[in-house]
Amino acid sequence: MSDFGFPLPHVVSIPPYPPGRPIDAVAREFGLDPAAVVKLASNENPLGCSPKAAEALRVAVAETHLYPDFDCHALRHAIAAHVGVAADHVLPGAGSSEIILLAARAWLDAARAAVIPQYAFQSYEGAIRSVGAEPIVVPVRDWKPDLDAMLAAATDKRVHLVYLATPNNPTGTIIPRDELERFAEALPAHVLLVLDEAYREFLPDDEQVDIARLFARRRNLLVMRTFSKVYGLAALRVGYGIGDPELLALLRRLQLPFSVSAPAQAAAVAALGDTAFVDTARRENETERTRMAAAFDAMGIETIASAGNFVLARTGDGAANARALMQKGVIVRPVANYGLPDWLRVSVGLPHENDLFFEKLREVRSEMPKAAVA
Ligand SMILES: Cc1ncc(COP(=O)(O)O)c(C=O)c1O
Repeated sequence: MSDFGFPLPHVVSIPPYPPGRPIDAVAREFGLDPAAVVKLASNENPLGCSPKAAEALRVAVAETHLYPDFDCHALRHAIAAHVGVAADHVLPGAGSSEIILLAARAWLDAARAAVIPQYAFQSYEGAIRSVGAEPIVVPVRDWKPDLDAMLAAATDKRVHLVYLATPNNPTGTIIPRDELERFAEALPAHVLLVLDEAYREFLPDDEQVDIARLFARRRNLLVMRTFSKVYGLAALRVGYGIGDPELLALLRRLQLPFSVSAPAQAAAVAALGDTAFVDTARRENETERTRMAAAFDAMGIETIASAGNFVLARTGDGAANARALMQKGVIVRPVANYGLPDWLRVSVGLPHENDLFFEKLREVRSEMPKAAVA
């Protein structure tokens, strides 16, 4: 017995989610000027958000005393027009994190299991375990989900859900469109496929998943997207699911009332209307990501080709490197929790932020014992 009685074993089994550390916390710990600290740890948009979204947020503050529209009417319609579906095929949530959790709560329990690829976003395992279900982790091949092995794993009668992301975090790999379509078609009809497109907008148009083609192949599909990444609204916590209205209605029964705040709804609507901002963010991300990959290469550090707004790099001892970089005012993400102790995930920042990262990384490598350097 613990001091707190008998907490449920499946809750104790949930790996704690390790967030990127906030700038203020790091500045306090290491006695640094917060203005000089650079955060490249949470795949945020270094350009901020659209000025149109910021203005919508400012206006929304006047109605802080009112509960938000739980139906998210304006936002659902704006997303529906953007995606090309009817408004009843859209369910906004408090980040796609909420949708990840709702899917697990609606489809899984202690008698069931879910299939995820190795190196999948950590919240999937947390969501699966939070309801007492078992995660079945399928090893990747060449860093990419092994879709055939995942199909084989899904024949286990306990499996009712699959989480899959493209591009994937933390690896940045994508699943080619034809392979994904074949997978969607072959997966048993009773298994819910949750497709996470948090980084979709960073892909060139012709590499983005055609979800109409996926929905034509299976009805039991939930596509998730977010305003936290390219739209730069991470602080507001807003994302959404796209799926059959009947399926979304099930998720909605479990949703915390008013989980998407009114300022978040207003800013998200405005953000969708500013396509120029998204185009700029995508373009600058690609330029800087290419430059970062080349800089890692020049230092002899292996990376994985990334389609997202981050790069996974094999620096050697990720925890030690991340700590040493943090002391020098650069926050990046160690990924030992993903089973990648030798790697760091570095978000793509502004040009001067990326330059600072490489300057500090070179310092750290020259100061570090050889054993900690790949
Ligand atoms: C693959 C993936 N999915 C979902 C999320 C959750 O994003 P949010 O809850 O901010 O929408 C993240 C955040 O890093 C992510 O990397």
